[in-house]
Amino acid sequence: MSLEEKLKKLDEMREKARLGGGQDKIDAQHQKGKLTARERLELLVDKNSFEEFDMFVTHRSFDFGLADKKVLGDGVVTGCGMINGRQVFVFSQDFTVFGGSLSGAHAEKICKIMDMAMKVGAPVIGLNDSGGARIQEGVVSLGGYADIFLRNTLASGVVPQISVILGPCAGGAVYSPAITDFILMVKNSSYMFVTGPNVVKTVTHEIVTSEELGGAVVHASKSGVAHFACENEADAIGTLRKLLSYIPQNNLEDPPFIESNDPFDREDDILNTIVPDDPSKAYDIKDVIHHIVDHGEFLEVHADYAMNIVVGFAHLGGRSIGIIANQPAVLAGVLDIASSLKAARFIRFCDAFNIPILTFEDVPGFLPGTDQEHGGIIKHGAKLLYAYCEATVPKVTVITRKAYGGAYDVMNSKHVRGDMNYAWPTAEIAVMGPKGAVEIIFKKDIEQAKDPEGELAKKTDDYRAKFANPFIAAGRGYIDDVIEPKTTRPRLIRAFQMLETKKDSNPPKKHGNIPL
Ligand code: HXC
Repeated sequence: MSLEEKLKKLDEMREKARLGGGQDKIDAQHQKGKLTARERLELLVDKNSFEEFDMFVTHRSFDFGLADKKVLGDGVVTGCGMINGRQVFVFSQDFTVFGGSLSGAHAEKICKIMDMAMKVGAPVIGLNDSGGARIQEGVVSLGGYADIFLRNTLASGVVPQISVILGPCAGGAVYSPAITDFILMVKNSSYMFVTGPNVVKTVTHEIVTSEELGGAVVHASKSGVAHFACENEADAIGTLRKLLSYIPQNNLEDPPFIESNDPFDREDDILNTIVPDDPSKAYDIKDVIHHIVDHGEFLEVHADYAMNIVVGFAHLGGRSIGIIANQPAVLAGVLDIASSLKAARFIRFCDAFNIPILTFEDVPGFLPGTDQEHGGIIKHGAKLLYAYCEATVPKVTVITRKAYGGAYDVMNSKHVRGDMNYAWPTAEIAVMGPKGAVEIIFKKDIEQAKDPEGELAKKTDDYRAKFANPFIAAGRGYIDDVIEPKTTRPRLIRAFQMLETKKDSNPPKKHGNIPL
Protein backbone atom coordinates (compact mmCIF):
# COMPACT_ATOMS: atom_id res chain seq x y z
CA MET A 1 0.00 0.00 0.00
CA SER A 2 1.46 3.40 -0.96
CA LEU A 3 1.72 6.23 1.55
CA GLU A 4 -1.04 7.98 -0.32
CA GLU A 5 -3.34 5.00 0.18
CA LYS A 6 -2.32 4.72 3.82
CA LEU A 7 -3.09 8.40 4.36
CA LYS A 8 -6.47 7.91 2.70
CA LYS A 9 -7.19 5.07 5.09
CA LEU A 10 -6.12 7.22 8.02
CA ASP A 11 -8.49 9.96 6.89
CA GLU A 12 -11.32 7.46 6.56
CA MET A 13 -10.68 6.10 10.02
CA ARG A 14 -10.62 9.59 11.48
CA GLU A 15 -13.86 10.41 9.68
CA LYS A 16 -15.43 7.26 11.11
CA ALA A 17 -14.23 8.07 14.60
CA ARG A 18 -15.65 11.58 14.33
CA LEU A 19 -19.10 10.11 13.58
CA GLY A 20 -19.13 8.33 16.95
CA GLY A 21 -22.28 6.21 17.26
CA GLY A 22 -23.48 7.30 13.80
CA GLN A 23 -25.57 10.03 12.20
CA ASP A 24 -28.91 8.74 13.55
CA LYS A 25 -27.57 8.86 17.12
CA ILE A 26 -26.13 12.34 16.48
CA ASP A 27 -29.54 13.47 15.22
CA ALA A 28 -31.17 12.01 18.34
CA GLN A 29 -28.70 13.92 20.50
CA HIS A 30 -29.55 17.16 18.67
CA GLN A 31 -33.27 16.45 18.99
CA LYS A 32 -32.83 16.39 22.76
CA GLY A 33 -31.39 19.91 22.49
CA LYS A 34 -27.91 18.56 23.25
CA LEU A 35 -24.63 19.09 21.42
CA THR A 36 -22.30 16.23 20.52
CA ALA A 37 -19.05 15.59 22.38
CA ARG A 38 -17.04 17.21 19.56
CA GLU A 39 -19.35 20.21 19.17
CA ARG A 40 -18.89 20.87 22.88
CA LEU A 41 -15.12 20.74 22.54
CA GLU A 42 -15.29 23.28 19.72
CA LEU A 43 -17.13 25.66 22.03
CA LEU A 44 -14.77 25.00 24.92
CA VAL A 45 -11.27 25.42 23.55
CA ASP A 46 -9.65 28.18 21.51
CA LYS A 47 -10.05 27.74 17.76
CA ASN A 48 -7.86 25.03 16.23
CA SER A 49 -6.14 24.35 19.55
CA PHE A 50 -7.48 20.85 20.25
CA GLU A 51 -5.07 17.90 20.00
CA GLU A 52 -6.90 14.60 20.25
CA PHE A 53 -5.42 11.51 21.91
CA ASP A 54 -6.48 7.89 21.48
CA MET A 55 -8.90 8.35 18.64
CA PHE A 56 -8.45 4.72 17.61
CA VAL A 57 -8.97 3.09 20.99
CA THR A 58 -11.76 0.53 21.15
CA HIS A 59 -13.17 -1.63 23.92
CA ARG A 60 -11.89 -5.18 24.37
CA SER A 61 -15.14 -6.91 25.33
CA PHE A 62 -16.78 -9.91 23.74
CA ASP A 63 -19.81 -10.65 25.90
CA PHE A 64 -23.38 -9.60 25.11
CA GLY A 65 -22.60 -9.19 21.40
CA LEU A 66 -20.01 -6.48 21.97
CA ALA A 67 -17.32 -8.25 19.90
CA ASP A 68 -18.69 -6.82 16.65
CA LYS A 69 -19.84 -3.52 18.16
CA LYS A 70 -16.64 -1.53 18.35
CA VAL A 71 -16.65 2.20 17.84
CA LEU A 72 -13.37 4.10 17.37
CA GLY A 73 -12.72 6.22 20.45
CA ASP A 74 -15.08 4.09 22.59
CA GLY A 75 -17.42 6.85 23.67
CA VAL A 76 -15.08 9.54 24.89
CA VAL A 77 -13.03 12.20 23.11
CA THR A 78 -9.89 13.09 25.03
CA GLY A 79 -7.00 15.46 24.50
CA CYS A 80 -5.55 18.86 25.27
CA GLY A 81 -6.33 22.35 24.09
CA MET A 82 -6.09 26.00 25.03
CA ILE A 83 -8.57 28.17 26.89
CA ASN A 84 -7.73 31.85 26.47
CA GLY A 85 -4.23 30.75 25.52
CA ARG A 86 -3.75 28.52 28.58
CA GLN A 87 -3.29 24.73 28.41
CA VAL A 88 -6.07 22.43 29.62
CA PHE A 89 -6.73 18.69 29.39
CA VAL A 90 -10.24 17.61 28.50
CA PHE A 91 -12.42 14.57 28.16
CA SER A 92 -15.80 14.80 26.51
CA GLN A 93 -18.09 11.79 26.79
CA ASP A 94 -19.98 10.80 23.66
CA PHE A 95 -23.53 9.76 24.46
CA THR A 96 -23.98 8.48 20.90
CA VAL A 97 -21.67 5.55 21.73
CA PHE A 98 -23.21 3.12 24.25
CA GLY A 99 -24.82 6.11 26.00
CA GLY A 100 -21.38 7.51 26.92
CA SER A 101 -21.05 4.58 29.31
CA LEU A 102 -17.65 3.93 30.83
CA SER A 103 -15.74 0.83 29.72
CA GLY A 104 -12.24 -0.16 30.80
CA ALA A 105 -10.79 1.38 27.62
CA HIS A 106 -12.87 4.57 28.04
CA ALA A 107 -11.56 4.89 31.61
CA GLU A 108 -7.95 4.36 30.45
CA LYS A 109 -8.31 7.26 28.02
CA ILE A 110 -9.54 9.55 30.81
CA CYS A 111 -6.75 8.38 33.14
CA LYS A 112 -4.17 9.10 30.46
CA ILE A 113 -5.11 12.78 30.16
CA MET A 114 -5.34 13.10 33.94
CA ASP A 115 -1.82 11.70 34.32
CA MET A 116 -0.57 14.06 31.64
CA ALA A 117 -2.29 17.05 33.30
CA MET A 118 -0.54 16.20 36.57
CA LYS A 119 2.84 15.95 34.83
CA VAL A 120 2.56 19.29 33.08
CA GLY A 121 0.52 21.07 35.77
CA ALA A 122 -2.66 22.01 33.90
CA PRO A 123 -6.39 21.86 34.73
CA VAL A 124 -8.56 18.85 33.91
CA ILE A 125 -12.00 19.49 32.49
CA GLY A 126 -14.60 16.75 32.21
CA LEU A 127 -17.61 17.14 29.93
CA ASN A 128 -19.86 14.41 31.33
CA ASP A 129 -22.72 12.78 29.47
CA SER A 130 -22.82 9.15 30.53
CA GLY A 131 -25.07 6.29 31.56
CA GLY A 132 -22.44 5.22 34.12
CA ALA A 133 -20.52 1.96 34.22
CA ARG A 134 -20.79 0.01 30.93
CA ILE A 135 -23.05 -2.71 32.14
CA GLN A 136 -21.76 -5.36 29.69
CA GLU A 137 -18.21 -5.01 31.05
CA GLY A 138 -19.08 -5.61 34.69
CA VAL A 139 -16.24 -5.28 37.13
CA VAL A 140 -13.82 -3.96 34.49
CA SER A 141 -15.85 -0.78 34.22
CA LEU A 142 -16.13 -0.53 38.01
CA GLY A 143 -12.34 -0.81 38.19
CA GLY A 144 -12.12 1.92 35.55
CA TYR A 145 -14.19 4.25 37.70
CA ALA A 146 -12.06 3.54 40.73
CA ASP A 147 -8.92 4.34 38.69
CA ILE A 148 -10.44 7.72 37.90
CA PHE A 149 -11.57 8.38 41.51
CA LEU A 150 -8.03 7.73 42.73
CA ARG A 151 -6.59 10.17 40.21
CA ASN A 152 -9.26 12.78 41.08
CA THR A 153 -8.24 12.50 44.70
CA LEU A 154 -4.50 12.65 44.07
CA ALA A 155 -4.93 15.61 41.72
CA SER A 156 -7.13 17.45 44.24
CA GLY A 157 -5.31 20.60 45.32
CA VAL A 158 -2.59 20.07 42.69
CA VAL A 159 -4.38 20.96 39.45
CA PRO A 160 -7.88 22.46 39.21
CA GLN A 161 -10.52 19.92 38.18
CA ILE A 162 -13.84 21.08 36.78
CA SER A 163 -16.85 18.98 35.78
CA VAL A 164 -19.58 20.03 33.40
CA ILE A 165 -22.65 17.81 33.45
CA LEU A 166 -24.34 17.83 30.07
CA GLY A 167 -26.67 14.87 30.15
CA PRO A 168 -27.48 11.98 32.45
CA CYS A 169 -24.87 11.24 35.03
CA ALA A 170 -25.88 8.10 36.85
CA GLY A 171 -24.30 5.66 39.26
CA GLY A 172 -20.51 5.86 39.39
CA ALA A 173 -20.58 8.75 36.94
CA VAL A 174 -21.50 11.15 39.77
CA TYR A 175 -18.64 10.39 42.10
CA SER A 176 -15.80 11.56 39.90
CA PRO A 177 -17.43 15.00 39.45
CA ALA A 178 -18.17 15.05 43.18
CA ILE A 179 -14.45 14.91 43.99
CA THR A 180 -13.60 17.70 41.51
CA ASP A 181 -13.48 21.37 42.47
CA PHE A 182 -16.52 22.73 40.62
CA ILE A 183 -19.62 21.22 39.04
CA LEU A 184 -21.59 23.05 36.37
CA MET A 185 -24.98 21.68 35.30
CA VAL A 186 -27.46 22.63 32.58
CA LYS A 187 -31.12 23.20 33.43
CA ASN A 188 -33.58 20.65 32.03
CA SER A 189 -30.98 18.48 30.27
CA SER A 190 -28.50 17.30 32.87
CA TYR A 191 -29.09 15.02 35.82
CA MET A 192 -26.99 13.60 38.60
CA PHE A 193 -28.15 10.76 40.79
CA VAL A 194 -26.72 7.65 42.38
CA THR A 195 -29.91 5.79 41.44
CA GLY A 196 -32.43 7.06 38.91
CA PRO A 197 -36.21 7.51 39.19
CA ASN A 198 -36.98 3.87 38.25
CA VAL A 199 -34.85 2.45 41.05
CA VAL A 200 -36.24 5.02 43.47
CA LYS A 201 -39.76 3.93 42.56
CA THR A 202 -38.93 0.26 43.09
CA VAL A 203 -37.16 0.75 46.40
CA THR A 204 -39.08 3.55 48.11
CA HIS A 205 -42.29 3.69 45.98
CA GLU A 206 -41.56 7.38 45.54
CA ILE A 207 -42.56 8.75 42.14
CA VAL A 208 -40.21 11.47 41.02
CA THR A 209 -38.98 12.88 37.71
CA SER A 210 -35.29 13.04 36.78
CA GLU A 211 -35.40 16.83 37.06
CA GLU A 212 -36.98 16.70 40.53
CA LEU A 213 -34.57 14.01 41.70
CA GLY A 214 -31.28 15.33 40.37
CA GLY A 215 -31.72 18.23 37.97
CA ALA A 216 -29.56 21.33 37.85
CA VAL A 217 -31.91 23.48 39.91
CA VAL A 218 -32.21 20.86 42.66
CA HIS A 219 -28.44 20.38 42.92
CA ALA A 220 -27.66 24.08 42.70
CA SER A 221 -30.19 25.11 45.35
CA LYS A 222 -31.03 22.15 47.62
CA SER A 223 -28.17 19.68 47.76
CA GLY A 224 -25.35 22.08 46.94
CA VAL A 225 -23.76 19.38 44.75
CA ALA A 226 -23.67 21.76 41.75
CA HIS A 227 -21.96 25.15 41.89
CA PHE A 228 -23.61 26.57 38.77
CA ALA A 229 -27.01 25.90 37.15
CA CYS A 230 -26.65 27.17 33.60
CA GLU A 231 -29.36 28.00 31.07
CA ASN A 232 -27.93 25.92 28.23
CA GLU A 233 -24.73 24.14 27.14
CA ALA A 234 -23.16 27.27 25.62
CA ASP A 235 -23.83 29.15 28.86
CA ALA A 236 -22.20 26.34 30.89
CA ILE A 237 -19.10 26.28 28.71
CA GLY A 238 -18.89 30.10 28.73
CA THR A 239 -19.14 30.11 32.54
CA LEU A 240 -16.37 27.51 32.73
CA ARG A 241 -14.07 29.61 30.54
CA LYS A 242 -14.77 32.63 32.76
CA LEU A 243 -14.17 30.60 35.92
CA LEU A 244 -10.74 29.54 34.69
CA SER A 245 -9.72 33.18 34.26
CA TYR A 246 -9.56 33.51 38.08
CA ILE A 247 -7.63 30.29 38.67
CA PRO A 248 -3.95 29.38 38.27
CA GLN A 249 -2.82 26.39 36.23
CA ASN A 250 -1.70 24.49 39.32
CA ASN A 251 -0.92 24.84 43.02
CA LEU A 252 2.61 26.14 42.38
CA GLU A 253 1.49 29.10 40.30
CA ASP A 254 -0.30 32.33 41.08
CA PRO A 255 -3.61 33.17 39.38
CA PRO A 256 -3.28 35.24 36.20
CA PHE A 257 -3.05 39.02 36.67
CA ILE A 258 -5.62 40.80 34.51
CA GLU A 259 -4.71 44.37 33.53
CA SER A 260 -7.49 46.63 34.76
CA ASN A 261 -8.36 50.17 33.77
CA ASP A 262 -10.69 50.54 36.76
CA PRO A 263 -8.70 53.14 38.79
CA PHE A 264 -6.94 51.63 41.79
CA ASP A 265 -7.71 54.77 43.84
CA ARG A 266 -11.40 54.85 42.93
CA GLU A 267 -13.53 55.85 45.92
CA ASP A 268 -17.26 55.26 45.89
CA ASP A 269 -19.61 57.54 47.87
CA ILE A 270 -22.47 55.02 47.64
CA LEU A 271 -20.59 52.77 50.06
CA ASN A 272 -21.04 55.41 52.76
CA THR A 273 -24.82 55.00 52.60
CA ILE A 274 -25.29 51.27 51.93
CA VAL A 275 -25.47 50.13 55.57
CA PRO A 276 -28.82 51.37 56.99
CA ASP A 277 -28.77 53.43 60.21
CA ASP A 278 -31.22 50.97 61.76
CA PRO A 279 -29.10 47.88 62.68
CA SER A 280 -32.10 45.58 62.19
CA LYS A 281 -32.56 46.63 58.54
CA ALA A 282 -31.12 44.49 55.77
CA TYR A 283 -29.03 45.46 52.76
CA ASP A 284 -27.52 43.43 49.94
CA ILE A 285 -23.85 42.61 50.47
CA LYS A 286 -23.53 42.01 46.72
CA ASP A 287 -24.05 45.78 46.24
CA VAL A 288 -21.01 46.33 48.45
CA ILE A 289 -18.98 43.81 46.43
CA HIS A 290 -20.00 45.29 43.07
CA HIS A 291 -19.00 48.81 44.13
CA ILE A 292 -15.54 47.67 45.22
CA VAL A 293 -14.21 45.09 42.75
CA ASP A 294 -12.75 45.82 39.30
CA HIS A 295 -15.51 46.95 36.91
CA GLY A 296 -18.13 45.58 39.32
CA GLU A 297 -17.54 42.08 37.93
CA PHE A 298 -18.20 39.26 40.38
CA LEU A 299 -18.49 35.58 39.42
CA GLU A 300 -20.73 34.18 42.09
CA VAL A 301 -20.29 30.50 42.96
CA HIS A 302 -23.18 28.55 44.50
CA ALA A 303 -25.45 31.56 43.89
CA ASP A 304 -28.66 29.67 44.73
CA TYR A 305 -27.43 27.57 47.64
CA ALA A 306 -27.15 28.78 51.26
CA MET A 307 -27.78 32.32 50.12
CA ASN A 308 -27.10 33.68 53.61
CA ILE A 309 -23.45 33.57 52.62
CA VAL A 310 -22.07 34.77 49.29
CA VAL A 311 -18.91 33.32 47.74
CA GLY A 312 -17.24 33.94 44.41
CA PHE A 313 -14.37 35.36 42.42
CA ALA A 314 -13.46 38.88 41.38
CA HIS A 315 -10.42 40.92 40.43
CA LEU A 316 -9.20 43.70 42.65
CA GLY A 317 -6.54 45.93 41.16
CA GLY A 318 -6.05 43.17 38.55
CA ARG A 319 -5.44 40.46 41.16
CA SER A 320 -7.72 37.46 41.40
CA ILE A 321 -9.40 37.14 44.80
CA GLY A 322 -11.93 34.83 46.40
CA ILE A 323 -14.69 36.63 48.30
CA ILE A 324 -16.66 35.25 51.22
CA ALA A 325 -19.40 37.56 52.47
CA ASN A 326 -22.21 37.18 54.98
CA GLN A 327 -25.47 38.22 53.32
CA PRO A 328 -27.63 40.35 55.65
CA ALA A 329 -30.44 40.25 53.07
CA VAL A 330 -30.99 36.50 53.66
CA LEU A 331 -31.71 35.20 57.19
CA ALA A 332 -29.87 38.30 58.47
CA GLY A 333 -26.63 36.68 57.29
CA VAL A 334 -26.70 34.08 60.06
CA LEU A 335 -24.24 31.17 59.85
CA ASP A 336 -25.89 27.76 59.59
CA ILE A 337 -24.89 24.29 58.42
CA ALA A 338 -25.25 24.90 54.69
CA SER A 339 -23.53 28.29 54.69
CA SER A 340 -20.64 26.91 56.76
CA LEU A 341 -20.12 24.03 54.31
CA LYS A 342 -20.38 26.30 51.30
CA ALA A 343 -17.86 28.82 52.59
CA ALA A 344 -15.45 26.23 54.02
CA ARG A 345 -15.15 24.42 50.70
CA PHE A 346 -14.63 27.66 48.82
CA ILE A 347 -11.94 28.85 51.23
CA ARG A 348 -10.07 25.55 50.90
CA PHE A 349 -10.16 25.80 47.13
CA CYS A 350 -8.76 29.36 47.23
CA ASP A 351 -6.07 28.38 49.72
CA ALA A 352 -5.03 25.32 47.70
CA PHE A 353 -4.62 27.45 44.58
CA ASN A 354 -2.98 30.59 45.99
CA ILE A 355 -6.03 32.80 45.58
CA PRO A 356 -6.11 35.54 48.28
CA ILE A 357 -9.25 35.66 50.38
CA LEU A 358 -11.38 38.73 51.09
CA THR A 359 -14.05 38.42 53.78
CA PHE A 360 -16.96 40.82 54.26
CA GLU A 361 -18.51 40.30 57.65
CA ASP A 362 -21.98 41.14 58.89
CA VAL A 363 -23.16 38.22 60.96
CA PRO A 364 -25.40 38.03 64.01
CA GLY A 365 -23.99 34.60 65.00
CA PHE A 366 -24.75 30.93 64.45
CA LEU A 367 -28.39 29.92 63.90
CA PRO A 368 -29.92 28.47 67.08
CA GLY A 369 -32.43 25.59 67.22
CA THR A 370 -32.86 21.84 67.31
CA ASP A 371 -32.77 21.56 63.51
CA GLN A 372 -29.29 22.97 63.42
CA GLU A 373 -27.98 21.31 66.58
CA HIS A 374 -29.28 17.88 65.59
CA GLY A 375 -28.00 18.40 62.07
CA GLY A 376 -24.52 18.89 63.45
CA ILE A 377 -23.95 22.66 63.33
CA ILE A 378 -21.10 22.06 65.78
CA LYS A 379 -19.11 19.88 63.40
CA HIS A 380 -20.16 21.76 60.25
CA GLY A 381 -19.49 25.19 61.73
CA ALA A 382 -16.13 23.81 62.83
CA LYS A 383 -15.30 23.11 59.20
CA LEU A 384 -15.57 26.81 58.42
CA LEU A 385 -13.43 27.67 61.41
CA TYR A 386 -10.89 25.02 60.40
CA ALA A 387 -10.79 26.26 56.81
CA TYR A 388 -10.10 29.84 57.86
CA CYS A 389 -7.52 28.76 60.46
CA GLU A 390 -5.50 26.58 58.10
CA ALA A 391 -5.56 28.97 55.12
CA THR A 392 -2.17 30.61 54.56
CA VAL A 393 -2.97 32.77 51.53
CA PRO A 394 -3.31 36.55 52.10
CA LYS A 395 -6.47 37.05 54.13
CA VAL A 396 -8.21 40.41 54.52
CA THR A 397 -11.46 41.16 56.38
CA VAL A 398 -13.85 44.09 56.29
CA ILE A 399 -16.46 44.16 59.07
CA THR A 400 -19.32 46.19 57.66
CA ARG A 401 -21.70 45.80 60.60
CA LYS A 402 -22.28 42.90 62.98
CA ALA A 403 -19.50 40.66 64.21
CA TYR A 404 -21.07 38.87 67.12
CA GLY A 405 -20.06 35.88 69.16
CA GLY A 406 -18.30 32.87 67.73
CA ALA A 407 -19.01 34.22 64.29
CA TYR A 408 -16.61 37.11 65.05
CA ASP A 409 -13.84 34.57 65.67
CA VAL A 410 -14.71 32.39 62.71
CA MET A 411 -15.00 34.97 59.96
CA ASN A 412 -11.28 35.49 59.49
CA SER A 413 -10.60 37.37 62.70
CA LYS A 414 -7.08 38.51 63.51
CA HIS A 415 -6.85 35.57 65.91
CA VAL A 416 -7.18 32.99 63.11
CA ARG A 417 -4.44 34.67 61.10
CA GLY A 418 -6.40 37.42 59.34
CA ASP A 419 -3.62 39.58 57.88
CA MET A 420 -5.40 42.90 57.58
CA ASN A 421 -8.68 43.40 59.42
CA TYR A 422 -10.66 46.54 58.73
CA ALA A 423 -13.94 47.75 60.18
CA TRP A 424 -16.34 50.35 58.92
CA PRO A 425 -17.51 52.85 61.58
CA THR A 426 -20.88 51.03 61.44
CA ALA A 427 -19.26 47.84 62.84
CA GLU A 428 -20.62 46.28 66.02
CA ILE A 429 -18.10 43.87 67.53
CA ALA A 430 -19.22 42.13 70.73
CA VAL A 431 -20.09 38.81 72.30
CA MET A 432 -23.72 39.24 71.38
CA GLY A 433 -26.31 41.78 70.21
CA PRO A 434 -27.19 44.56 72.71
CA LYS A 435 -30.71 43.37 73.62
CA GLY A 436 -29.72 39.72 74.15
CA ALA A 437 -26.70 40.80 76.16
CA VAL A 438 -28.55 43.05 78.63
CA GLU A 439 -31.34 40.52 79.07
CA ILE A 440 -28.70 38.16 80.44
CA ILE A 441 -26.34 40.38 82.39
CA PHE A 442 -29.06 42.70 83.81
CA LYS A 443 -31.80 40.06 84.18
CA LYS A 444 -32.48 40.82 87.87
CA ASP A 445 -32.20 44.64 87.50
CA ILE A 446 -34.74 44.55 84.67
CA GLU A 447 -37.15 42.23 86.52
CA GLN A 448 -37.01 44.38 89.64
CA ALA A 449 -37.31 47.72 87.85
CA LYS A 450 -40.57 49.71 88.19
CA ASP A 451 -40.69 49.90 84.39
CA PRO A 452 -38.99 46.72 83.08
CA GLU A 453 -39.56 47.66 79.41
CA GLY A 454 -38.07 51.11 79.94
CA GLU A 455 -35.16 49.67 81.91
CA LEU A 456 -34.47 47.11 79.16
CA ALA A 457 -34.50 49.86 76.51
CA LYS A 458 -32.20 52.11 78.55
CA LYS A 459 -29.74 49.35 79.33
CA THR A 460 -29.79 48.26 75.68
CA ASP A 461 -28.99 51.80 74.54
CA ASP A 462 -26.16 52.02 77.10
CA TYR A 463 -24.74 48.69 75.94
CA ARG A 464 -25.02 49.69 72.28
CA ALA A 465 -23.21 52.96 72.93
CA LYS A 466 -20.45 51.17 74.81
CA PHE A 467 -19.95 47.96 72.84
CA ALA A 468 -21.75 48.14 69.49
CA ASN A 469 -18.84 49.82 67.72
CA PRO A 470 -15.44 48.87 66.36
CA PHE A 471 -13.29 50.82 68.81
CA ILE A 472 -12.94 48.31 71.63
CA ALA A 473 -11.58 45.75 69.12
CA ALA A 474 -9.48 48.45 67.42
CA GLY A 475 -8.15 49.52 70.82
CA ARG A 476 -6.77 46.01 71.25
CA GLY A 477 -5.31 45.84 67.74
CA TYR A 478 -7.83 43.18 66.73
CA ILE A 479 -8.87 45.61 64.00
CA ASP A 480 -6.01 47.20 62.09
CA ASP A 481 -7.97 50.30 61.11
CA VAL A 482 -11.45 51.76 61.07
CA ILE A 483 -11.96 53.01 57.52
CA GLU A 484 -14.46 55.23 55.75
CA PRO A 485 -16.58 52.89 53.61
CA LYS A 486 -16.05 54.87 50.40
CA THR A 487 -12.28 54.31 50.64
CA THR A 488 -12.60 50.52 50.85
CA ARG A 489 -11.44 49.73 47.31
CA PRO A 490 -8.13 51.61 47.46
CA ARG A 491 -7.48 50.31 50.97
CA LEU A 492 -8.06 46.71 49.93
CA ILE A 493 -5.95 47.01 46.79
CA ARG A 494 -3.09 48.36 48.88
CA ALA A 495 -3.54 45.60 51.46
CA PHE A 496 -3.40 42.81 48.88
CA GLN A 497 -0.46 44.50 47.17
CA MET A 498 1.38 44.63 50.49
CA LEU A 499 0.55 40.96 51.11
CA GLU A 500 1.69 39.78 47.71
CA THR A 501 4.95 38.36 49.06
CA LYS A 502 3.34 36.90 52.19
CA LYS A 503 4.81 33.60 53.34
CA ASP A 504 3.10 31.51 55.98
CA SER A 505 2.81 27.79 56.53
CA ASN A 506 1.34 25.12 58.76
CA PRO A 507 3.31 22.54 60.75
CA PRO A 508 4.51 19.56 58.67
CA LYS A 509 1.99 16.71 58.81
CA LYS A 510 0.52 14.02 56.62
CA HIS A 511 -2.76 15.91 56.57
CA GLY A 512 -5.00 17.54 59.13
CA ASN A 513 -8.21 15.99 60.36
CA ILE A 514 -10.90 18.46 59.31
CA PRO A 515 -14.12 17.64 61.21
CA LEU A 516 -15.94 15.88 58.35
C1 HXC B 1 -24.17 0.20 28.56
C2 HXC B 1 -25.72 1.84 28.18
C3 HXC B 1 -25.65 2.26 29.52
C4 HXC B 1 -24.76 1.56 30.38
C5 HXC B 1 -27.06 3.51 28.51
N1 HXC B 1 -26.61 2.63 27.59
N2 HXC B 1 -26.50 3.29 29.70
N3 HXC B 1 -24.98 0.82 27.70
N4 HXC B 1 -24.04 0.55 29.85
N5 HXC B 1 -24.63 1.92 31.64
C6 HXC B 1 -26.97 2.55 26.18
C7 HXC B 1 -28.38 2.09 25.98
O1 HXC B 1 -28.44 0.68 25.95
C8 HXC B 1 -28.68 2.69 24.61
O2 HXC B 1 -28.05 1.88 23.64
C9 HXC B 1 -27.94 3.99 24.64
O3 HXC B 1 -26.94 3.87 25.65
C10 HXC B 1 -28.82 5.17 25.00
O4 HXC B 1 -29.53 4.86 26.17
P1 HXC B 1 -31.11 5.10 26.31
O5 HXC B 1 -31.56 4.40 27.50
O6 HXC B 1 -31.78 4.81 25.01
O7 HXC B 1 -31.14 6.67 26.51
P2 HXC B 1 -32.03 7.55 27.48
O8 HXC B 1 -33.46 7.16 27.34
O9 HXC B 1 -31.67 8.97 27.18
O10 HXC B 1 -31.58 7.16 28.96
C11 HXC B 1 -30.26 7.42 29.40
C12 HXC B 1 -30.03 6.77 30.79
C13 HXC B 1 -30.42 5.28 30.74
C14 HXC B 1 -30.85 7.53 31.84
C15 HXC B 1 -28.54 6.96 31.11
O11 HXC B 1 -29.83 4.67 29.58
C16 HXC B 1 -30.00 4.53 31.96
O12 HXC B 1 -30.69 4.60 32.98
N6 HXC B 1 -28.89 3.83 31.85
C17 HXC B 1 -28.39 3.01 32.92
C18 HXC B 1 -27.89 3.81 34.07
C19 HXC B 1 -27.22 2.97 35.10
O13 HXC B 1 -27.89 2.35 35.90
N7 HXC B 1 -25.90 2.81 34.98
C20 HXC B 1 -25.10 1.88 35.69
C21 HXC B 1 -24.84 2.53 37.01
S1 HXC B 1 -23.91 1.50 38.06
P3 HXC B 1 -28.65 1.68 22.18
O14 HXC B 1 -27.73 0.69 21.54
O15 HXC B 1 -30.04 1.19 22.35
O16 HXC B 1 -28.59 3.03 21.56
C22 HXC B 1 -22.49 2.29 38.16
C23 HXC B 1 -21.59 1.70 39.19
C24 HXC B 1 -20.32 2.46 39.41
O17 HXC B 1 -22.22 3.24 37.51
C25 HXC B 1 -20.14 2.61 40.87
C26 HXC B 1 -18.86 3.27 41.19
C27 HXC B 1 -18.89 3.87 42.59
